[in-house]
Amino acid sequence: MTEFNKKKSFNEFFEEVSPRLGVRKISFRKIFNYLDKLPDPITIVETGCLRIKDNFEGDGQSTLLFDVYTQFRGNNSKVYTVDINPQATKNCSQVVSKNVHIETGDSVGYLNKLTKIFVDKKITPSLFYLDSFDLNWRSPEESGQHHLKELVSIKSILNLDTLVVVDDSPISGYLQESEAKKGNLDFIPFGLVPKPTISGKGYLIHQYAMQTGAKLLFSNYQTGWTGFN
Ligand SMILES: C[S@@+](CC[C@H](N)C(=O)[O-])C[C@H]1O[C@@H](n2cnc3c(N)ncnc32)[C@H](O)[C@@H]1O
Repeated sequence: MTEFNKKKSFNEFFEEVSPRLGVRKISFRKIFNYLDKLPDPITIVETGCLRIKDNFEGDGQSTLLFDVYTQFRGNNSKVYTVDINPQATKNCSQVVSKNVHIETGDSVGYLNKLTKIFVDKKITPSLFYLDSFDLNWRSPEESGQHHLKELVSIKSILNLDTLVVVDDSPISGYLQESEAKKGNLDFIPFGLVPKPTISGKGYLIHQYAMQTGAKLLFSNYQTGWTGFN
């Protein structure tokens, strides 16, 4: 049990920590509102664990948030997390409860193994939170490809309601697109400038989602989709 379990409810805990979540505050709220509507047990799988204690502002402390949420949900709700850096998994294990299964290794191999276990044990995942492979904002290809590989690894166990969220994936667009639409830039023909899309870690997952009919549920720095299967 963590110190946070002394709170009366998950909402009380979230209200206390959410001012520190910065750009992730709104989308984490949306994640938990969505999970509230899913049946027990809640099963959350994460790639890239909490690596620095109390770093709410920088990384988000996702593993801790998911740990506290699943403990309040009870009924066998659990968190699974993986990180390639042994120091990160060590630090994480010192912050979260035994309700979190922590593994050290590459997330793509891990998700492949976990997928087989979930199929055998008939475990239905509620949420995948993908936040491994750090992003180079100027050159997002490697990180985007890694997160697409993670999605490929779990594709067979996604159901209509499984929420997939990727961190560091805000909407990006060309300012000229909206200005051109308003007619303020009559030297830019409307339609010439690309439309806004999802950038960052999840940019390739978003392209795949849109090509396969998945649904974009929200995008507030973190982006969430459902309906992959
Ligand atoms: C941004 S941090 C995760 C932050 C965490 N989700 C939080 O909210 O506090 C990204 C983590 O991904 C890990 N990582 C990088 N490449 C990875 C890989 N191939 N497999 C698993 N983890 C990886 C890094 O070691 C790092 O700890």
